[in-house]
Parts: sequence; structure tokens; C-alpha cells
Amino acid sequence: MKILVTYHSLSGNTERMAEAVVTGAQSVSGAQVLLKRVGQVTAEDLLSADAVVVGSPVYWSNMSGEVKTFFDNWQFKFGVFPEFKMKNKVGAAFATGGQSSSGKEVTLLTILAAMLGNQMIVVSGGGAFGASATTEGESPGIDRRELAEAKALGVRVAEVARLIKVASPR
Ligand SMILES: Cc1cc2nc3c(=O)[nH]c(=O)nc-3n(C[C@H](O)[C@H](O)[C@H](O)COP(=O)(O)O)c2cc1C
Repeated sequence: MKILVTYHSLSGNTERMAEAVVTGAQSVSGAQVLLKRVGQVTAEDLLSADAVVVGSPVYWSNMSGEVKTFFDNWQFKFGVFPEFKMKNKVGAAFATGGQSSSGKEVTLLTILAAMLGNQMIVVSGGGAFGASATTEGESPGIDRRELAEAKALGVRVAEVARLIKVASPR
């Protein structure tokens, strides 16, 4: 199964989490994983994927503009609607935020909401809504537990994608 892991990251934190998601997904047999920044994703990358995992830094308690534009491009560039071309693909989210309680869950949930609106099958793994990490303030940066959460999310996404692919091969 093809798994697209895509993210926005300016200072590298979300990118590190993306790499851990990839490590987890690659550990599941049969997984082919593609890692790309949101701005580089092509229609072929998106539409051929069985699962899409999206990561964002928290910007003002929500996903960053780049990640929102990526979702908006599903329509404007990739034409997923009205046929619901993302239907039944697996979706999941990860996020990094500077502060411990300043928008990570909203960010995860708004990413999942965009996926739900596209009739995707969203899953969690790691945390309740996906994987996340705190990167600034009293945090010394992303720690091993947070990277393990991201890896667990990658494993879960690949396992569920495999279940769906076996049940209904495209
Ligand atoms: C414009 C902007 C807005 C931000 N807003 C928040 C915020 O609301 N809550 C928060 O916890 N962190 C906020 N941050 C901090 C980033 O989420 C944090 O540094 C993140 O780990 C950056 O990810 P990156 O290294 O992948 O770019 C903000 C950063 C920027 C640049």
C-alpha cells in the first residue's frame, strides 16, 4: 500500500516528526512510503496514495497557512470534488507546537476535519487525535516519547491501510 507522509516545517520540528512517522510506516510489510513537503505534492502522489498523513506546526492555534492551502488545493489543483476522489483512503495527523497547551489538538482536529469532509477514514495512533510534540519554552525540544508517538502513528496508518486494501483492493 502507498502511504504519503506530507508536512510543512520551517524550523525542522515537524519534519523530524514526519521522518519518525515514515520510520513507523516503513516497518509494516507491504508499505511503500513517500515523504514530501506539502507544496511539492502532485496530483499523482495524492490520488495514488492509499493513506495520507499530514503534519503541521501550530500557527496561532491552528494548522499553518501552507497546510491549509494544501487542503484547498485538493479542489483547486487536484479536483477531488465532487467525485470524492479521496473517499476511503486512510488519513491521519501530526503536529508540533511551541507551548504544551496552545493549539496542538485544534491543529490535529482541523486536519482530521478536512479529511472527514473528504470521506476519508481517519485514524489516530500515538495520542488520541494523532501524534504531537512540544518544541519550545520549558520543553528541551522533541523527546524520545514524542518521536515514538509519531512512529506508532506511522505503524497504525500502514496497518489500517493494509486492512482496507485487503478488504477492497482498488
Ligand atoms: C506564525 C507562528 C505562529 C505560532 N503559533 C503558535 C501557537 O499558537 N501555539 C503554539 O504552541 N506554538 C506556536 N508557534 C510555534 C510553532 O508551532 C513551533 O515552533 C513549531 O514546532 C514549529 O514547527 P517547525 O519547526 O516544523 O517549523 C507559532 C510559530 C509561528 C512561526
